[in-house]
Amino acid sequence: MPSTRLGKIRSLQVRAPASSANLGPGFDIFGLGLEEPFDVVTVTLLKDQRIVLKLDPETKYKVPEIWDENSAGLVADALLRNFGGGFGCEIRVRKGIPPGYGLGSSAADAAAVAFALDRLLDLHLPMNTLIAFAAKGEVASAGVPHFDNVAAALLGYFSAIRQGTDGLDLVSLPQTPQDLILCLGRPLVQVPPKKTGTARNILPKQVPLSDAIWNIASASLIMAGFAIGNIKLIGQGMQDKIVEPARSNMVPGYDRVRRAALDAGAVGVAISGAGPTMLALIDRGKSDPRKVSKAIREGFRKAGIPCEITTTKPGKGVCVIDDVV
Ligand code: HSE
Repeated sequence: MPSTRLGKIRSLQVRAPASSANLGPGFDIFGLGLEEPFDVVTVTLLKDQRIVLKLDPETKYKVPEIWDENSAGLVADALLRNFGGGFGCEIRVRKGIPPGYGLGSSAADAAAVAFALDRLLDLHLPMNTLIAFAAKGEVASAGVPHFDNVAAALLGYFSAIRQGTDGLDLVSLPQTPQDLILCLGRPLVQVPPKKTGTARNILPKQVPLSDAIWNIASASLIMAGFAIGNIKLIGQGMQDKIVEPARSNMVPGYDRVRRAALDAGAVGVAISGAGPTMLALIDRGKSDPRKVSKAIREGFRKAGIPCEITTTKPGKGVCVIDDVV
């Protein structure tokens, strides 16, 4: 365990990206770090052991300001208990990521705090350790730690991760095909508190071998697609026979939106994380992202639901905006 030596900086402001987990068959394994939306998180060391959580006045969305009900607070607590040397911290969050819609909102702040405290306390923890600490924050929304969103938020672009027999097994691909565009359709419905936990509780405990084989094959296509930069292969792999069928009822207009996006030229469509946002992948060299956006909007509209569309692409992980010595 490293001894706590303070770094030179006392306060760090970071940009923490949204992420989209699963991509269909890669439940709890695959994650994509997104260019937009993102949160801005400022972590400042305190000379006593308090953890103070504040929402920035300019925040677009609200999350709990009670530290142990918030992913960022849980991560700060875990890191400070292990390495804090008597310090506490203030965490100020400006949310640009809507919480509860399957866009890795809690993971972004968890990753931001892990990243920032690692620097502020001069810890130089290995990436796998940072991911493991950041995943502790997911307990606030999912009830259990899961690594896919926090890995994507910390590392950006594409990652695949699992809890191995001897720690985390991680693959991170720090770039994705140039022409890969993502279209996020967020239905403007009320989401229940701790929705991710609910969306996990409805999943089957046992699955037919044929579905497991299908999902392994599909996930392999996605992995290969990212590795060799083949967008079509990635899209072909985005077909899940285990998790999405169980969750599709939680997304209003799921079938309609999925069909419409594919017909408009998306290479693959999936529920983003635990939903209800839908994620469509587009090869901009072959299809027009505006056409896919329009189709998704229309699909939700026909289900009687307005939606917000964000067109973005994979982007980098948590990064420093500013520091104060
Ligand atoms: N893999 C997680 C789930 C992601 O689908 O429950 C939550 O955003």
